[in-house]
Amino acid sequence: MAKKAHRTIRLNDYTPYPFLIDKVDLDAQLDPAVTRVTAKLKMKPNPEAKMPGGPVVLDGHGLELVEVKIGGRKLNADDYTLDAEHLTIHKVPDRAFTLETTSTCNPEANKALTGLYRSRGIYCTQCEAEGFRRITYYPDRPDVMSIFTTRIEADAADTPVLLSNGNLIDSGKLPKGRHFATWNDPFRKPAYLFALVGGKLGHIKDTFKTASGRKVDLRIYVEPGKEDRCAWAMDSLKRSMRWDEKRFGREYDLDIFMIVAVSDFNMGAMENKGLNVFNDKLVLASAETATDGNYESIEAVIAHEYFHNWTGNRITCRDWFQLCLKEGLTVFRDQEFTADERSRTVERIGSVRGLRAAQFPEDAGPLAHPVRPESYIEINNFYTSTVYEKGAEVCRMLQTLLGVDGFRKGMDLYFERHDGEATTVEKFIACFEDACKADLTQFMLWYRQSGTPELVCTMDYDAKKQQAALTIEQVLAPTPGQPKKKPFHMPVRMGLLGGNGDALALTLADGSTVDDGILELKKAKQTFTFKGVTSRPVASLLRDFSAPVNLSFAQSTDDLEFLMVHDSDLYNRWQAGQTYATRLILELMAKKKGAKAGPKDLARAIGHTIADDKLEPAYRAMMLALPSESDIAREVRTNVDPAAIHAARQTVRREIGMTLRDDLEKLYAKYAQKGPYKPDAASAGQRSIRLAALGMMTVEERPADVAKLAAHFSSATNMTDQMTALAYLADIDGPERIKALAAFEKQWGGDSLVMDKWFATQAMSDLPGTVEAVEKLQQHTLFQLTNPNKVRALIGAFAQGNQLNFNRADGAGYSLVAGVVIELNKHNPQVAARLTGAFRSWQTLEPKRRKLAKAALESVHVSQGLSRDVFEIVSKTLQEQD
Ligand code: TRP
Ligand code: ZN
Repeated sequence: MAKKAHRTIRLNDYTPYPFLIDKVDLDAQLDPAVTRVTAKLKMKPNPEAKMPGGPVVLDGHGLELVEVKIGGRKLNADDYTLDAEHLTIHKVPDRAFTLETTSTCNPEANKALTGLYRSRGIYCTQCEAEGFRRITYYPDRPDVMSIFTTRIEADAADTPVLLSNGNLIDSGKLPKGRHFATWNDPFRKPAYLFALVGGKLGHIKDTFKTASGRKVDLRIYVEPGKEDRCAWAMDSLKRSMRWDEKRFGREYDLDIFMIVAVSDFNMGAMENKGLNVFNDKLVLASAETATDGNYESIEAVIAHEYFHNWTGNRITCRDWFQLCLKEGLTVFRDQEFTADERSRTVERIGSVRGLRAAQFPEDAGPLAHPVRPESYIEINNFYTSTVYEKGAEVCRMLQTLLGVDGFRKGMDLYFERHDGEATTVEKFIACFEDACKADLTQFMLWYRQSGTPELVCTMDYDAKKQQAALTIEQVLAPTPGQPKKKPFHMPVRMGLLGGNGDALALTLADGSTVDDGILELKKAKQTFTFKGVTSRPVASLLRDFSAPVNLSFAQSTDDLEFLMVHDSDLYNRWQAGQTYATRLILELMAKKKGAKAGPKDLARAIGHTIADDKLEPAYRAMMLALPSESDIAREVRTNVDPAAIHAARQTVRREIGMTLRDDLEKLYAKYAQKGPYKPDAASAGQRSIRLAALGMMTVEERPADVAKLAAHFSSATNMTDQMTALAYLADIDGPERIKALAAFEKQWGGDSLVMDKWFATQAMSDLPGTVEAVEKLQQHTLFQLTNPNKVRALIGAFAQGNQLNFNRADGAGYSLVAGVVIELNKHNPQVAARLTGAFRSWQTLEPKRRKLAKAALESVHVSQGLSRDVFEIVSKTLQEQD
């Protein structure tokens, strides 16, 4: 294996950069194989770190250095040292000076998709976290902020559109068919927010008038011919801009805001100042090609990147350990946007589902880390759901504890105090302490301690005293590097329901009442005694999922059914259904005899909800969905057998579908589409309940059911209907499946983005031959290992979205994924490392699978030329817990 030591970077080692950079002038001569970049840096010593005279250490990776000048004078080879990662200039003046470097890079050969690369003829950059060093020599760290002026020169025919951050200040023709454009960004920014784009691009445009009356040009650039799929993204952008003004008082600050969509992209999107770059799947949408889910993600990610303009760009991170400062906060902001634009309850359930599916297993496994990590080998591995989604939950808890108005006051102070700075989590939290006169010392533990707390709750009712005593204990299991933990400060939102489902007053023994039902938990074990409770109440705990914890509370199935019907907190009505279903599935797996309730009882409670027209269709669709196989696996905890989970879940699902068939058929008929497709949340909600009903009412897979699915597929006039029916058919072996997959391929074979759905749906099938099918699909002409969307659609969907077949008992799923990781590691370490994350829960598996998964991981570990990215994930994942 690659025995070279990979250095660990630590938060405690932070020191300021010894120089300040007042201005950066870049000149990029674009060429597919030899792009030449000259960077002029106006530098001076940083008074906060006195080291006059140098050395100056610049980051640089994969560059060919042409020359170095100081004050216009060319340096000799012995004036500097060049290694694989740095350019070190031994001596510089002890006052202001200009450092100029010229270097070249090769965009066409860049398949890592970081730095400057070419995707389908379009030059584009990705600099976060440390990609700028692949473009030019620079102190590539977020606390070095500067004013960038960027001149781009290229062949006018081949590369007609030239974009960078800020405002266009000059452009023109040059001899030999070349042309140029010069952009200036007046806001100081770190290098990770730099962007440059060049190519043949079409665009749509619009304008936005800010609250203070300034006019902003809005543009979305795409491959020519795709302009008609940008309308939804533009609409989402304008709504995001308005929302940030209304909810947080934040206006846009440049004269132009641009979005560029590219096909080869390592993640979702990137918030470069004034020039966001997007994975095209998060921009392009039409009724025929995009599902309701696609529309929803486009809206959310457009909002997310736009919101970064204030939380991330105007105020950025001092160092990469502070990543949650921008990401957790911006996810929280985009979730709130979605809640306001769509449905608060549906958004909340969706976010909690996502948190549990991705973050909880991370926090319970070998890769667990705090929301603010304290060390890393490769920073790209820390763009995790802990930093993003748990980071957002931490912001949400702040809002719950301080109130919406208190939270806003803290945010206002944050923007006022730290605008233009690169700052820290401590400084952020201090704003809330100062604005709200709050003590958040203990709350800071959420940034330092990893692991999902478990709240063990008991409720004792004393009929004689008419008292209900709720005891909550925080159980904090050890996580890697953190054997012992301190109790957290968190809000537990709750209510007590009386016999008719009415809300009981929450009066504590001392006569005080619990405001908004929010208990503030601070100790390891706390008891809250409520008085004046005249009959046994039913407790509704952790309403709205007020803290990112696991709740352990023994409630009878009767109480759960009661909550499913009566709880005024819609989130907890849903949660009660999930808890109920989980219990049934676990009991079935344990073959528990004499269980009080069965699937028919659960079906009765679900039937009650889905028939309730006062509830939103999208919410009712969620009530119909059983917990996922991974949800069940997390409850099983150890010796997990994914095949047994799949079988038990299917049994419960089938019984519910059979019991409710008449009701489901009515829903299916009732919500049939009327009029043309509309992507708004209400229309999407109607499709979602109708399609959920379709899935459940055909669970028996009788010939008539399969015919119904096939008919739904072939009569579909939008992608949501077409794709959902295809996904259902993909789980049913037979000629209809083959026919539908072939028809889809024939219809969409020319559209690479749509074909990603076709790959994914086959990869997620629960049929027995799926591993072999995925192997074979890798040979399909459209499948490319250099296109991350393809890798995610086929291999990612298989590894993360198909618990049954990825965990096939003979280990074939593990070998397949390990093989792809080894290949991918050679050209795209970032995407390879992400895929390796699919193995994060291997230690919870039953012994046979555990052994096979471990062997697959070891095959990656010993492979040649392992990148720092994959090395970190695979070596940490292999470390055995307990
Ligand atoms: N900052 C981006 C976001 O909004 C995520 C990001 C980090 C990213 N590194 C990236 C995107 C590399 C694409 C490629 O969340
Ligand atoms: Zn982000």
